[in-house]
Amino acid sequence: EKGGHDYFMLKEIAEQPRAVADTLLGRIDGSGSLRLDEVRIPPHELREVDKVVIVACGTAFHSGMIAKYAIEHWTRIPCETELASEFRYRDPILDQRTLVVAISQSGETMDTLMALRHAREQGAKVLAICNTNGSTIPRESDAVLYTHAGPEVAVASTKAFLTQLVACYLVALYLGQIRGTKWGDEIRTVIRQLSEISGAVEQVLGTMEPVRELARSLAGHDTVLFLGRHVGYPVALEGALKLKELAYMHAEGFAAGELKHGPIALIEDGLPVVVVVPSPRGRSLLHDKVVSNIQEIRARGARTVVIAEEGDEAVVPYADHLIRIPITPTLLQPLVSTVPLQVFACELATARGNDVDQPRNLAKSVTVE
Ligand code: F6R
Repeated sequence: EKGGHDYFMLKEIAEQPRAVADTLLGRIDGSGSLRLDEVRIPPHELREVDKVVIVACGTAFHSGMIAKYAIEHWTRIPCETELASEFRYRDPILDQRTLVVAISQSGETMDTLMALRHAREQGAKVLAICNTNGSTIPRESDAVLYTHAGPEVAVASTKAFLTQLVACYLVALYLGQIRGTKWGDEIRTVIRQLSEISGAVEQVLGTMEPVRELARSLAGHDTVLFLGRHVGYPVALEGALKLKELAYMHAEGFAAGELKHGPIALIEDGLPVVVVVPSPRGRSLLHDKVVSNIQEIRARGARTVVIAEEGDEAVVPYADHLIRIPITPTLLQPLVSTVPLQVFACELATARGNDVDQPRNLAKSVTVE
C-alpha cells in the first residue's frame, strides 16, 4: 500500500506531480481560460467581493499565506490570511461582500470549522478548499473547490499542500479573470504556465539525492533556521514546520527582511540556515536583497543551504550547499521550492530514528480546539 516506499510520506511526496496535474484537470478549457463552474458562487457575486479573508491552520495556513500574494496581485482585492484559531476569537469585520476561504486537507479541523461558522453568521460567503469529499467543512460552506491529492495518510502534509497552492492560484486567477484587471495578459500566461507546472515538480523530485545526503549530515544538529522573502517566506515557515514535526528539532522560519531586526543574533558558527531565493527575473530587487542576506549570515559563520533557480549564478559564491529548482513564474515558485524542504525534513527525521508517518504527539486531523 506504500507503493514500494518505506513510508507513506515518501509515497505522497512522490505523488505530487500527479496530484498537481489532477487538481488542474478539467479546470482549464481549450482556449486557456479557467472554468470553475463547480464553484457555485455566481460570477456577479464574485465580482462584488471587496475583501478576501483566508482562514486555516498549520500547513494549510501556509498555503493561505501564499494565496494572499497571488490574490492581491492578480485581483487587486485586499486579502488577509489568518490562523483560524485566532480569527474566531477576535471580532473580525465581515459582511456579505467578504469572501472567506477556508483551507483544510481533512475538512474536519475544528478551529477552521468554527472560524467558517463564525464568518457565515456575519453574512460572509465561504468557499472551502478541501481534499476530503463530503467532509464537514465543505458541507458547511457556500461553495467548495476540491483538491485532488487523493488520500493523504502521513501525518505531515505534503501533496495536500501543493494541491492547496494550485487551488489557491486557481481562485486568484479566476477572480482576476472574471473581474478583468490590468493583469489580463499575465493571467492568461500564468494559466498556461500552471498547466505545465507538474513537469517542474517531477523535475525537482529527480534531483533530491544531494538533499538527502545533506539532511543525513545534519542529523546531529539542534537547530536549523529557514529564511525566505515574498512567497518564499511562507515556504520557509513550512520548511521549519516540517522539521519540527518530523525531526523534533528546533526549526524556525523568518522573513529574510526581518533578519536585522533580531534573528541575526542567532547566527553562530556552523548553524545551518536554509534560504529560499526569489527568482532573479521579475522582482529582481528582492532577489538581490536575499543574496545580501546570505552574504551577511555566511560572514557570521552560518552554513548556508541555498535553494535557487537554475541559472542564478549570483548565489554561487555564498552557498555552502546549493539546491537548484526549475525556473517558474515568481508567484508559482512555492510549488517547486517546497519539495526539497519536504525531502530534507523526511530524511533528517529518518536519520534521527523517528517514525515519519506517525510523529509523536500529533494526529492527522485535529477535531478538537
Ligand atoms: C502539518 C500538518 C498540520 C495540518 C493542520 C491543518 O504537516 O499536517 O499542520 O496542516 O492541522 O489540517 P487540515 O488541513 O486538515 O485542516
